[in-house]
Amino acid sequence: MANLYLIKSRDDELNTLISTNLLKEYSKIYKNIAIYCPVIYVHRISILQEWLKEFNINQSLKNAYGFTFEEATLEFSKDKHNFFNTILKEYEELKLKHDFVLVSSFCEFGILDGFDLSVKLAKNLNTPIAAIVSEENRLLAKRYFEENLGGKNYALINENFDFNELKNLKEYDFLTPYRFKYELIKKSVKNKKVVVLPESDDERILRASEILLKSNVVDLILLGDEKIIKQNALNLGLDLGTIKIINPLNSEYNDEFSTLLYEARKAKGMSFEEAKELVKDRTYFGTLLVYSAKADAMVSGASTTTAETIRPALQIIKTKEGISSVSGIFFMGLEDKILAFADCAVNPAPTAEQLAMSAYVSAQTAKAFNIEPNIALLSYSSGDSGKGESVELVKEALKIAREKYPDLNIDGPMQFDCAFDAKTAAKKMPNSKIAGNANVYIFPDLNSANICYKAVQRTANALAIGPILQGLKKPVNDLSRGCLVADIVDTIILSAIQAQ
Ligand code: ACO
Repeated sequence: MANLYLIKSRDDELNTLISTNLLKEYSKIYKNIAIYCPVIYVHRISILQEWLKEFNINQSLKNAYGFTFEEATLEFSKDKHNFFNTILKEYEELKLKHDFVLVSSFCEFGILDGFDLSVKLAKNLNTPIAAIVSEENRLLAKRYFEENLGGKNYALINENFDFNELKNLKEYDFLTPYRFKYELIKKSVKNKKVVVLPESDDERILRASEILLKSNVVDLILLGDEKIIKQNALNLGLDLGTIKIINPLNSEYNDEFSTLLYEARKAKGMSFEEAKELVKDRTYFGTLLVYSAKADAMVSGASTTTAETIRPALQIIKTKEGISSVSGIFFMGLEDKILAFADCAVNPAPTAEQLAMSAYVSAQTAKAFNIEPNIALLSYSSGDSGKGESVELVKEALKIAREKYPDLNIDGPMQFDCAFDAKTAAKKMPNSKIAGNANVYIFPDLNSANICYKAVQRTANALAIGPILQGLKKPVNDLSRGCLVADIVDTIILSAIQAQ
């Protein structure tokens, strides 16, 4: 499969000439080409139609473009995420059916920087860029691509383009937050799981449920009184279809769950009467649904604290074999990459053993979400430069991790800049394969991890997806009380994938 992302100029005639010549050249080497215009001016639809005919392109006019310019400006203003998601989805569908896709994109987008937006789209689609750039703009464009593409794998073209140069461009491998989420949805649809949501009295939970049911990615169970939930949904104008609802106060499972809970906790001093009462608590009930395999995962915490949400899981579901400590990881979506931060959620003051385990389970989580882990154990010191109790703790964690999990790609202690940035790494830890190359970051304690993920999320406008609790036998995940509907949707999808 090959592709090219053409960023057009402001000169319509030049754009048409170059596009026609590109289609001519590509149709000589590929049998089944496609065109895709993410955004098109209405007056250019007829030209697109002519190309489909002239080059015998086996594709309907409707799937040769995403939005008309008017639709695009409206959608971008209303819901930017849907704008990107729609384009990514339509492009990926074309990619499946054709051996080459020419993406023909804009350089202007109303009062916004259309060139920059086009490059963002190209990174989301992972299509290499050929930009039609006049002579006087070449230096500016080069400077721009130096910053945005590391100066590689793009072409600046005019009407006398060199087709060999374009043929040699390679598909990008950026993992943007939109692509990451797109891949998650694809994965969760393939093997649908049942997720229980105890907090049906929260409007955000009901809204997230409707979105997920419509897209058919998971099956859901809501906990609470059926009449009240249905009335609330009606008041909000939501259609929850035939969603399953169970009331923990009087369900058919209460007797069974009382026994299960009593058996799990009697050694800790719980009486049967206490178990019978506790089962009516929606977080315990949801946890027991997962424990008894009547649901595959639970997502809660929109109105309860982390401790309240996860304590039942720690007590009943317990950890996987070989794992003694549960930890929480966030996927941080930067503009064109995803990083994983741990432990942002559970252990306030981890021991060296717990840090090593956190690194091990984080590597497993990263792999489950198609990220090949390079793990940095973070500290305020890189290599042997600094001393102190917490540096020694991280050094000890590295020693344990290397001994217990010899297959891990791991190094430390290192500062964040040394872990993230190749130039800094070359100065501070030149012999480390991980430094400058890390994508999984293990923080020395909960303070630093939790503060850092929120700082990156709020100041760098990064998308924080999670936390995902790792190490439990079955997935139970915690929401932040300030979560948005989109965060709930993401966490439910992540939980469903963890259950696969
Ligand atoms: N891994 C596995 N099991 C654990 C862990 C762990 N990390 N921590 C506690 N447990 C188990 C215990 O062994 C115990 O099991 P048992 O009763 O069968 O013996 C059970 O959980 C309860 O343990 P307690 O020691 O009583 O601990 P407690 O319930 O008070 O607290 C908790 C555990 C909730 C994880 C606590 O450490 C905590 O509150 N952590 C911080 C959570 C937090 O506030 N995070 C920040 C906000 S999250 C965010 O911003 C995304």
